[in-house]
Amino acid sequence: MQTKFNEANLTIRDELEQDYQKVFNLNQMAFGQNSEAELVDKLRQNKVNTVSLVAEADKETVGHIMLSEMHTSDSISVKILGLAPMAVHPDCQQKGIGSKLVYEAISRAKSKSIDAIFVLGYPTYYPKFGFQSAKQHNIVSEYDVPDDTFMVLSLSNNALEILSGKTVRYSKEFSEL
Ligand SMILES: CC(C)(COP(=O)(O)OP(=O)(O)OC[C@H]1O[C@@H](n2cnc3c(N)ncnc32)[C@H](O)[C@@H]1OP(=O)(O)O)[C@@H](O)C(=O)NCCC(=O)NCCS
Repeated sequence: MQTKFNEANLTIRDELEQDYQKVFNLNQMAFGQNSEAELVDKLRQNKVNTVSLVAEADKETVGHIMLSEMHTSDSISVKILGLAPMAVHPDCQQKGIGSKLVYEAISRAKSKSIDAIFVLGYPTYYPKFGFQSAKQHNIVSEYDVPDDTFMVLSLSNNALEILSGKTVRYSKEFSEL
């Protein structure tokens, strides 16, 4: 695709059924493999995708982000989501589309009264949205990952206190990757 990306024509909106194939292709292209594209399909099929947004410019799908349900080791009264995967068309990266997707996804999560969002990703990218090291708040991932790559963004007053000392888990679809 030769994308003549024009920022003025960029819209971020909820994903629709008609987007599914384009979103699959986008994830496949951005990651250079099928795993993340298939993960998106599974999360959607199993209805654990709480937020799924597409970035569209001139009717081309140029970005996608998904937030899906996460769980804690104990049953506690917080609603948490994991940000993954996120993809921007290789022709359109480094133009702020990813950032717009993250900001909009956070806004959607707030409107759904979500308490916190977790992400496993680049420690240089996500702090600008307010994500902090989860380890710093004594929250552990089920995966053995470097401390600074597993991050949390609190959206409610006492979410981090409630989550402190807990292990948080992605939906089972992630471990089937
Ligand atoms: C990560 C991604 C979604 C960012 O989208 P984007 O539209 O380019 O993002 P923005 O323009 O808002 O910001 C660009 C930032 O991406 C970050 N980034 C992208 N690739 C990165 C990498 N491999 N390592 C570290 N940071 C990276 C940088 O911090 C960059 O910031 P800079 O402008 O200070 O250099 C996009 O690069 C992508 O689709 N990559 C392939 C798939 C992927 O890795 N997804 C994320 C994991 S789920």
